[in-house]
Amino acid sequence: MTGDVVSLEDVEAARDRIGGVVHRTPLDTSRTFAELSGAASVGLKLENVQRTGSFKIRGAYNTMAQLSAEERESGVIASSAGNHAQGVALAGDLLDIDTSIVVPEVTPAAKVEATRGYGAEVIVEGDIYERSYEYALERADETGETFVHPFDDPAIIAGQGTIGLELLEQYPEIDTVLVAIGGGGLISGIGTALKAVEPDVRVVGVQPEGALHAKPSLERDEIHELADVDTVAEGIADTRMLETTFANAREVVDDVVGVSDRELATAVTLLAERAKTVAESAGAAPLAAAVSSETDLDLEGEHVAIVVSGGNVNLTEHAELTRTGLHQLERYVEARLAVAGWPTTVGDVVETVESEGAELDVLERARRSNVDHPNRVPVTIGLEGSGPEHLIRVLEALSGLEGVSAVEHSLD
Ligand SMILES: Cc1ncc(COP(=O)(O)O)c(C=O)c1O
Repeated sequence: MTGDVVSLEDVEAARDRIGGVVHRTPLDTSRTFAELSGAASVGLKLENVQRTGSFKIRGAYNTMAQLSAEERESGVIASSAGNHAQGVALAGDLLDIDTSIVVPEVTPAAKVEATRGYGAEVIVEGDIYERSYEYALERADETGETFVHPFDDPAIIAGQGTIGLELLEQYPEIDTVLVAIGGGGLISGIGTALKAVEPDVRVVGVQPEGALHAKPSLERDEIHELADVDTVAEGIADTRMLETTFANAREVVDDVVGVSDRELATAVTLLAERAKTVAESAGAAPLAAAVSSETDLDLEGEHVAIVVSGGNVNLTEHAELTRTGLHQLERYVEARLAVAGWPTTVGDVVETVESEGAELDVLERARRSNVDHPNRVPVTIGLEGSGPEHLIRVLEALSGLEGVSAVEHSLD
């Protein structure tokens, strides 16, 4: 394994380079998350409010600021459908370097627009990300543009590591840091900075169960590549680390844990509700690990830093995630009612939900199935309440209404 290993000096030099350009993001403490995880305290490092909505500008700017005059003249190319694209595009704008970003055909128009909005030329090429990546490399060969890798580059890693330096200042009591792993650049940088100054800080990576490659790689001490990935967290849906990130991660990562997509949705929900902050699934992964009862991660009595690495999620997806999250927290229920006296009874249903202090999210006439009574109208409702006992109370009140003859739901 020959990847370059990044030093504290590299990270400090990156801090000097990017200071004044990127935000020193806030560190919020959360009593609620400390209680939920058993930690003595939890510090949320809010990179979701970083410029471009994720930490990626740190590495991109650090890398591109070091290009020679000639390289700057030839421009930069990257392939990404997400946060790296925006980081490279903004860095290009700030440094006056032309940028081209290759994205796969499936990239949502909103993301293409956001990247264009930072001044990049967007090239749509390839049915999947791998093809866009190959195309970007081929084009770089032809045009002389510099290819900026999303993670496997010492300058990228050093840039991301500046988060670690900020953590040491903002949260000096830190015992453990939880960081999402995609290709491993973020955790390599943060781990390098933290371990160089505080060798006892525990550095824990978090991955979706459907993209859990770093754990076997570090356990077996060789890069493990997944045949495919399956997760809602597209920001960290990578199949493997590469040489440089692996060489760094094996020095500084103590452990890696996996979280389910349902746990990711719950963490997105908790961040919205309790911390009043919008995170994408990848950005919520560390909190998911902290509050999960499924991992063997022991945070009891520790001071735990959670890196909320990004917040680039469109609002419809955020709404889907929070609905799933509320389900998981047993704060949301869908029920199917059999209603006589349509539509008058519907008014009684609405009134009852309100008087019981719950929120009616949806109410719709359902498609009739052959088990439905011919003289009843099937109605589905979605309710938000303060917890399972509250929701069950509301459903009981509904089943007591004249005109409501059955209430089916999934709560025990
Ligand atoms: C929001 C977010 N968090 C975490 C990561 C993981 O970073 P890395 O690929 O350096 O491990 C990414 C990567 O794109 C990301 O977009």
